[in-house]
Amino acid sequence: MEEIRAVKGMNDVLPPESGRLSRFFEVGRRVLGTYGYGEVVTPIAEYTELFARAVGATTDMVEKEMYTFADRDGRSLSLRPEGTAGAVRAYLQHAVHRAEPVTRWFYAGPMFRHERQQRGRYRQFHQIGAEALGIAEPGIDAEMITMLVDLLAAIGVPSTRARVSSLGCAACRPAYRERLTAWLRPRVAGLCEDCRRRLDHNPLRVLDCKKPGCAAARDGAPSTLDLLCDACRVHLDGVVADLEAQSVPHRLDGTLVRGLDYYTRTAFEIVSDAAELGAQNTLVGGGRYDGLVEELGGPRVPAIGFAMGVERALLAIPAEAPPAAVDVFLVALGEPARRFAIGRARELRAAGLRVDLDHRGGGARRQIKRAAALGARVAAWVGDDELARGCITLKDLRDGSQREVAQADLLAAVRATLAGGS
Ligand code: HAM
Repeated sequence: MEEIRAVKGMNDVLPPESGRLSRFFEVGRRVLGTYGYGEVVTPIAEYTELFARAVGATTDMVEKEMYTFADRDGRSLSLRPEGTAGAVRAYLQHAVHRAEPVTRWFYAGPMFRHERQQRGRYRQFHQIGAEALGIAEPGIDAEMITMLVDLLAAIGVPSTRARVSSLGCAACRPAYRERLTAWLRPRVAGLCEDCRRRLDHNPLRVLDCKKPGCAAARDGAPSTLDLLCDACRVHLDGVVADLEAQSVPHRLDGTLVRGLDYYTRTAFEIVSDAAELGAQNTLVGGGRYDGLVEELGGPRVPAIGFAMGVERALLAIPAEAPPAAVDVFLVALGEPARRFAIGRARELRAAGLRVDLDHRGGGARRQIKRAAALGARVAAWVGDDELARGCITLKDLRDGSQREVAQADLLAAVRATLAGGS
């Protein structure tokens, strides 16, 4: 029979790699918590229309990369390609803007994009992202970038740098669009079919096209930074001043464009030069989206957010030896001893220790070998003799030392051994 495999671009994550993934989420949650972000959990599927309106109907993400299907009621649903649209939808649906002037939310979970699969680019991947709604001032932009630089350092990602830009606002972007369109028009022959079509209604998308021909054709295109209005310039200067005040390394880059339409003013990316990443070296993307809440039917609420690609960040972190899977291994010799051991295992587990025992039985040597393979620090040994005498033999598997303890003292003795020098 033909073997059924996972969907292309969607990966199984097995132990111990899954441990790295959850430790990453733990650090992310902890750091975001220190900045006052609370976790929002939104559905993995939304009505397709939400992404078309929020992310932009002419973006690659919506035009080409979404997993879209009709549900049994005939409504078009899409697996979320990103988290901002759902978070803002939930913010409005629950009228959170009426309850609090500032909202800080984060999310962590899988996203889905039907992209060309390669190292660091998958069709199901995980993001940790955050959205801060209600603050128009540049202080939050700089705070978010600073937080990300610190978070990546806390996680152990080497060689990161922030690229910062401004995409302007409703007042100054039309002039930039016009200049860009005029600049691109004589170069139209070099553009792909999609970009030729986009030239009229969304020329900024041309800057984001991944096709090599388009990348060459737009080389030297005007910078978004050249045509900023005074208010956008002041905002950007404010972001830069805060970053400089905190010595956060960053580079202003007027060629930075993002693959989503909702951005206004500040846009940023954090890349890592870790060799393992190759071309997929953008770990974080984010920016301000002051018009999105209104676009989705709400009031005008300024907002900024980011999302970090977890798999990419993990690729950049040097692999460490996986931590041991268990603390204590109970070696039970014979059926009466096994019966006794399962009760002790339950007690130790209730006390928070990680415990294993081998229900397959077998000789002492085999069981000790298994304990060592699992990385157990302590083996607790019980056979007919120990049962009769009311004791257990404890073996410290690191230094090989051995002692007998009363059965009633097992937990305290195990704890003492675990706390002993490593
Ligand atoms: P994004 O730039 O589309 O932004 O994605 C953010 C990050 O997700 C990327 O920098 C990358 O690390 C990771 N990522 C994206 N696609 C893939 C993939 N196919 N495989 C692996 N990792 C990937 C957003 O998603 C926005 N929602 C960010 C945001 C939040 N802006 C404002 N608020």
